[in-house]
Amino acid sequence: MAQSLSCREIIDQSNYPIDEVDNPKRQEVIEQVRAQLAVDGCAVVRNFFSEEGLNALLDEANERKPDAYYSPKKDCNVYLGSPDESQSKEHPRNIFMPRTNGFVRADTFDEESASRRLYYWEPLKQFLADCLDKPELFIYEDPISNMIVNVGKKGQRFNWHFDTNEFTITMLLKPAVKGGNFEYVPSLRTPQDECYDEVKKVLDGDRSRVKRLELNAGDLQFFLGRFSLHQVTENLGDEDRLLLIMSFTEQPGVIGSMYRVKDLYGKVTAAHLVNEESLIRADGLLD
Ligand SMILES: [Fe+2]
Repeated sequence: MAQSLSCREIIDQSNYPIDEVDNPKRQEVIEQVRAQLAVDGCAVVRNFFSEEGLNALLDEANERKPDAYYSPKKDCNVYLGSPDESQSKEHPRNIFMPRTNGFVRADTFDEESASRRLYYWEPLKQFLADCLDKPELFIYEDPISNMIVNVGKKGQRFNWHFDTNEFTITMLLKPAVKGGNFEYVPSLRTPQDECYDEVKKVLDGDRSRVKRLELNAGDLQFFLGRFSLHQVTENLGDEDRLLLIMSFTEQPGVIGSMYRVKDLYGKVTAAHLVNEESLIRADGLLD
């Protein structure tokens, strides 16, 4: 039973004693993650969960999967933004590609669920902050999208894009039997340069800089996706790919833009309406 598992028990305590701050094993993992992130902005902690923990998280995702929301707006450019009519049709801003996978919303997880309890567990948050070399992380206060499950059914994919967030924390609960691979091109753009020519090459099929990450059920992944183009390829198997996504912010009180949340998750709350005028965002971007 998920309810009977403590947060400690959800995680593989023998390899990842993340709530024991003085345990050298904890520090070792943190250093490994930091080293991997320094290389190419991607780090994986393999088999992060106990068997019972993974089963509990997977059961919760499967139970809620029928309620996943699939946005009717299926095509995106790599900037997840609007086209640029001043540019040619071949320009990356004007190339729209399918994003067809869906999301199980955060508000479908009750307070007693293992997923939600884990998300709010202080030692996990501190461990993730330490891995990312941040003094502190805060719960993303968006009640619809702060802790969600991405569902990729057969034939679905999330094409090449850059993230608006600096970092993403994901936990693969179930890989696709075939396809559904995470691929990325490290440091394809910089804060100063969109590097449109390099982006265009990837969109045209150049795979010379593309890395593919083999992920298994139970792997915790850190990814710095603001400058590294990335995608999840089409799920070619008969079973759904399920990915738990936990979002944290570097300042308290951040929620998503009403329009973005409505578009991706099909629902907003009073909090979105009330705060629309005075949103605190993670950065100064328009989203
Ligand atoms: Fe992304």
